[in-house]
Amino acid sequence: MTETEKKKKQEEEEQPEQVVNPWEVSAKDGGKIDYDKLIDRFGCQRLDQTLIHRLHRLTSRPPHVFLRRGVFFAHRDFAEILDAYERGDKFYLYTGRGPSSEALHLGHLIPFMFTKYLQDAFKVPLVIQLTDDEKFLWKNLTVDECQRLARENAKDIIACGFDISKTFIFSDFSYLGGSFYKNMVEVAKRVTYNQAVGIFGFTGEDHIGKVSFPPVQAVPSFPSSFPHLFSGKQNLRCLIPCAIDQDPYFRMTRDVAPRIGCHKPALIESLFFPALQGETGKMSASDPNSAIYVTDSAKDIKNKVNKHAFSGGQDSIEKHRQLGANLEVDIPIKYLSFFLEDDDELEHIKKEYGAGRMLTGEVKQRLVEVLTELVERHRRARAAVTEEMVDAFMAVRPLPHMFA
Ligand code: TRP
Repeated sequence: MTETEKKKKQEEEEQPEQVVNPWEVSAKDGGKIDYDKLIDRFGCQRLDQTLIHRLHRLTSRPPHVFLRRGVFFAHRDFAEILDAYERGDKFYLYTGRGPSSEALHLGHLIPFMFTKYLQDAFKVPLVIQLTDDEKFLWKNLTVDECQRLARENAKDIIACGFDISKTFIFSDFSYLGGSFYKNMVEVAKRVTYNQAVGIFGFTGEDHIGKVSFPPVQAVPSFPSSFPHLFSGKQNLRCLIPCAIDQDPYFRMTRDVAPRIGCHKPALIESLFFPALQGETGKMSASDPNSAIYVTDSAKDIKNKVNKHAFSGGQDSIEKHRQLGANLEVDIPIKYLSFFLEDDDELEHIKKEYGAGRMLTGEVKQRLVEVLTELVERHRRARAAVTEEMVDAFMAVRPLPHMFA
């Protein structure tokens, strides 16, 4: 090895690679997440235009902005789901949330907004897992507090507009047992400790609660875990919309599935929603200024965007007019590309801002409008969710019209 090679190797060993797992997301050197690398390392596929066109054709609905803009960008076996659907076989959707905080931020809403679109487009049933047990095991919270947060978060989820005749929301503390638990032990028996260490990075210091958890998140992928919904439908396929940090759970699930006579669940996976300060990972719950919360007032939103949203604009107007903004690093543009639905307007803003004809202040103002409207709409919808509605969504019941 030459000196340069040696030095390079040493540097690589000193700087940890990007870390992405269900509990930690950090880019190399505080830079951007390298999603191409992630796809390679995880072994999933890019969601290409062909699949998006097929989805458009099969559902006769225009693809969601999150598909048009590459927010949901990776998948596993999504084509198999479309094949099945095309043959007239239905499937079901599974997603979830770990209730670790009272207020959700915009990043938390993304999988639910997208799942709601999928439910409407395909007219299929949906199960939503609230992993109150997971958060008890990983965070410094009591069991009671985790259960309370699960219920509070259920209200935000319901506010996204799910159809109660097709949706079952459950919390692990309430629902585990019966067929669900039987599937859990079937999975647990087929994953060795060494495999779990390889997939999740557990160490000898981690308590065994963490090691025992992954089967809990795995088995909602199997219809037999929900006999009140899917009895006699053992062959139903499952599609999981989620952020890509959840992939390790489902890699494990997919590995076990054929060995217990089940289909592997398919996945459709999203990017992380960047922090206001810039695109280095996902938003941090510990810094309230790093994210827009669904509980933020119009004034909070304005302040956060104006003060904290990282700008790719130049530092003087003269320079900006001359050089234009660097759209690659600009957070207002990133956020608009998630939430501004009008493709033409977005293109126009990018062109004008990139050429220096539009200033950061103007772009931020448009973003404040878009976010305020979104948060207001969510607030109104959430205020309309009653305790009875939560009970109704969470009742263990058949859903006779779930494929209608
Ligand atoms: N582990 C996820 C979280 O902490 C919650 C979750 C459970 C989930 N099941 C899921 C997320 C399925 C996506 C898909 O938020």
